[in-house]
Amino acid sequence: MNTPSSNTLTQSPAWKALQAHQAEIANVRMDELFARAPGRAREFSLTAGALLLDYSKHRVTGTTLGLLADLARQADVEGWRARMFAGEHINASEDRAVLHVALRSAQAVFPAGGDVMPVVRKAKQDMRAFSDAVRGGRLLGHTGKPMRTVINIGIGGSDLGPRMLTQALWRHADAPQAVHFVANADPEDLAHVLAAAEPDTTLFIVASKTFTTVETLGNANLARAWLVKALGSEQAVTHHFAAVTTNLVAAANFGIEGERCFPLWDWVGGRYSVWASVGLPVAIAIGMDRFEELLAGARDMDAHFLSAPLEANMPVLMALLGIWYANFFGAESHAVLPYAEALRELPAYLQQLEMESNGKSVDRDGRSVDYATVPVVWGAPGTNSQHAFHQMLHQGTHLVPCDFLVPVATTGTAAENALAQGAALMAGKDAVQPQRRFEGNRPSSTILFKHIDPYTMGQLLALYEHKVFVQGIIWNINSFDQWGVELGKEIARTLAAQPAGGGTIAGLDASTNALLARVRAWRA
Ligand code: F6P
Repeated sequence: MNTPSSNTLTQSPAWKALQAHQAEIANVRMDELFARAPGRAREFSLTAGALLLDYSKHRVTGTTLGLLADLARQADVEGWRARMFAGEHINASEDRAVLHVALRSAQAVFPAGGDVMPVVRKAKQDMRAFSDAVRGGRLLGHTGKPMRTVINIGIGGSDLGPRMLTQALWRHADAPQAVHFVANADPEDLAHVLAAAEPDTTLFIVASKTFTTVETLGNANLARAWLVKALGSEQAVTHHFAAVTTNLVAAANFGIEGERCFPLWDWVGGRYSVWASVGLPVAIAIGMDRFEELLAGARDMDAHFLSAPLEANMPVLMALLGIWYANFFGAESHAVLPYAEALRELPAYLQQLEMESNGKSVDRDGRSVDYATVPVVWGAPGTNSQHAFHQMLHQGTHLVPCDFLVPVATTGTAAENALAQGAALMAGKDAVQPQRRFEGNRPSSTILFKHIDPYTMGQLLALYEHKVFVQGIIWNINSFDQWGVELGKEIARTLAAQPAGGGTIAGLDASTNALLARVRAWRA
C-alpha cells in the first residue's frame, strides 16, 4: 500500500542549506534580532493594496529569508504560478485546470489560448440580474409575495465562503432579506432556520458543485417537503428554489431548471469557488456592485502575486514562513486570530482552504513524502480567544506560529489587544516563580488593514489562496484534489443503508459494527 518515499525535497541543496541555517539560529532570540537591526520593523514589513504584513516577529534573519526564497526558486514556484494562470491542468489527479483566478479577472480573454471569460461574464450577469430581482422585491414566490428570507443550503466550499463573507460584510448588507446558511447533516440545523421563516417568502439556494453531496441533498429535500406541505403544491418548488451547480441534470430532476440554475465549472475547486455563483447569497446581501469590489480586491492581490519579486511577495512570504516552522522547527499547528467579531467565521473558512488543499502525504508523483505538509490550522476571534486558549500559546509546550488579522478602523481595544498579544508572545517575561515565567520568542505575523470591506476581504482571501498554492508547490503535492474525504463518505453511505436489526456489516470493523448496533438500539 505504501508508495516509495519522496526524499528529493529533503535531500535538495535548498532544504539542506535551510537545515544547516536553522541549527545556527534555533536559539537566537527575536529581541536580539531587533536590537541588532534597528530598522527591522520597517524592513520586515510589506504593503500590498489594503494590507500591511508585519513579519518582523519571526525567528528569521535576512539570510533565512534568502534561503527560503531559494527553496521557492528551486521548486519553480514562478513556473508553476505561470502554469496555473495559463490554464494548464495542474490538478493532475483529476486532469483539470485551476482557474479560480479567472472568476475575478478583468481581462477580455483569459487564459491565453483557452478563454473561459465568456462563461464567467455570463455567470456574473446572471448573478446580477437575479440578486437585483431578489433585493428589489421583483422575484415573487408561489403566492405572489417578494422574498424575505434567503437560505443557502450547501456544505464545505459551497457554504464556508459565502457564510463567512456574509457575516464579515454585514455592515455593507442593505438587502431587505435575511440571509441564512444551512450545512449540517443534523436536520436541527435546517429546523432552527426554518423556525423563523415563512414558506411563501423564503428562497432556497441549493449550492452543490456535484449535486450529489448527501448532506446538501438531504437538507434540500427536507426544505422542499416543508415548502410543498405549507404551500400545497409541487409547483412552488420552481418559484422558491435556485441551484448553484455543475450538475444541471440532477438539479433539473430536483425541480430547479433554466435561469434558476447558476453554473460552476470543473476548473474551479469548491473551496476556491466563492468568487462566482457560490457567492450568490453574498451578492444578494450586499448587492452585485459591492460583490464586484470583492473581486477587484482579489484581482489586485493576483496582480501582486504575479509581479512582485519572491522576497517581496506577500503570499510567497507567508507560505515560506509557514514552511520554516512546519518543516524546520517541527511546528504542528498554526493559529489564525482575527481581532474582529465580523471575522469569526474566517478560521473555519481557512481551515478548509489550507487543510483540504494541503492535507496530503503523497506527492505529485504518487510517492509518500518524508516531510510535514500542512499543519493543523485553527483559531477563533480575539479577544475571546485570549480568554480561552492563549494560555497555551504563551506557556504551552507547542510552538504555534500565529497570524493576527487586525482591522484598525473599529472602536474599542481589539486592535491594541492584538498588538499586545504579538508583543507578549515575542518578549516573554522573566519571573522568580516558574509558573509566572513566559519564555517568549514565539513568532507571529500581523496583518493590518483599515476596514472590513469587500475590497479588503477580496485581498485577504486571495492572499491565503496563493499562500496555500505556494506551499503546495514547494511540498510537491496537488493542492487541488481532495480524495481524502471520500472514504468516510463511502462508509457513511453503507452505515446509513443498513436497516435496523440488519446484523453486522461484513468487512466493517467490530467496534464500528457494535457502535452502529447501539445507535440503532437507542434510536428505537
Ligand atoms: O467533502 C468535501 C467536498 O467535496 C468539498 O471539497 C466541497 O467543498 C464539499 O464537499 C461540497 O461539495 P459539493 O459542492 O459538490 O456539494
